[in-house]
Amino acid sequence: MRLVIIGCGGFIGSHLLDRLLADETVSVRGWDPQVRKITRHLDNPRLRLHRHPVHEPGRQDELRDAVRWADAVINLAAICNPAEYNTHPIEVIRAGFLDVHPLVELCAAERTWLISFSTSEVYGRTLAGYLPGNTYDDPDLYELDEDETPLIMGPVRNQRWTYACAKQMLERYIYAYHHEHGLPFTIVRPLNFFGPRMDYLPGRDGEGVPRVLACFMNALIEGRPLQLVDGGRRHRTIVSIHEAVDALLLMLARPERAQNQFFNIGNRDNEVTIAELADLMRHCYAEITGDPGYRDHPIEVIDGERFYGAGYEDCDRRMPKLDRARTLLGWTPRIGLREILLETMSSYHDQYAKSPTRP
Ligand code: UGA
Repeated sequence: MRLVIIGCGGFIGSHLLDRLLADETVSVRGWDPQVRKITRHLDNPRLRLHRHPVHEPGRQDELRDAVRWADAVINLAAICNPAEYNTHPIEVIRAGFLDVHPLVELCAAERTWLISFSTSEVYGRTLAGYLPGNTYDDPDLYELDEDETPLIMGPVRNQRWTYACAKQMLERYIYAYHHEHGLPFTIVRPLNFFGPRMDYLPGRDGEGVPRVLACFMNALIEGRPLQLVDGGRRHRTIVSIHEAVDALLLMLARPERAQNQFFNIGNRDNEVTIAELADLMRHCYAEITGDPGYRDHPIEVIDGERFYGAGYEDCDRRMPKLDRARTLLGWTPRIGLREILLETMSSYHDQYAKSPTRP
């Protein structure tokens, strides 16, 4: 199998390469300026890496060649971090839509299957979340169905939604090319993939505010309070990166089932509020370090706009319907949240808590 992977050096790309390159029949042409997470693959002759952005001017011929050569193109390019959406909205819109829309046109011209990673954020906030009382009594008002659920975002001044809008525009652009020019596509909507290498830790291998797991890990390692944004009332469902990659491999193995579909990829059984996640992570870290004191590690509440800056708003609940992935791909995630956290937190602990660069 011949694959082009845009953004192959990121969290999802690195896990995907681990699995794909283990199969000697797979060859990959990858694009990514960042290679820190994939150094173990750099000498692999079946990986041809382009260490520049996919939209770099004057280099579209090599991309066209690769798209023509490939059985499928996987798009993972994006700035996927809520701290950036309201602080660097132009870059977020560029990375999510403008830089990659020519790729859609190339895939359509070559009739190459485009598998594009979107986001659960395209659903925005749930209908239940907008109703007075916010009770979630009726699953029809909050469960997320790929083809039925309306996509509801807040006002333009709330720039949290730049990422969701850019990704929604890309989905619509892909679907339009499918409709008008026969582009074969698959849209994947990830719901909080967790695993080793998912983010940086500020002050060590990156700057700014990473996603919640890395924020809480940083606080645990540095001995600072875990910060619960707006009290940690929001819900997330969390799925193991390994099972998410399983889903993608099933798609690649069954194009006739995966093509021209939208798929939620998440785990309904692993739903938590962020406050519950904080508590679970304290207990997991006590187990990893052998220090029961972490169970009572301090937690503090912080206002959303103080933490992320003006224009922050949050998705209230992300409960995916997964019938399509189950029936078409035979995919059902099984790894429980505690197991996911223990694996991910142990890898962070090994990588950072023992690091000599610790401030
Ligand atoms: C992000 C992306 O925007 C999604 O596209 C992506 O699907 C998702 O990550 C993912 O990892 O799959 P989100 O879940 O909002 O979405 O990202 P986080 O930064 O991990 O935030 C989760 C929740 O934790 C939010 O309610 C946030 O306010 C809260 N949080 C974050 C805290 O309470 N404390 C922190 O220190 C950091």
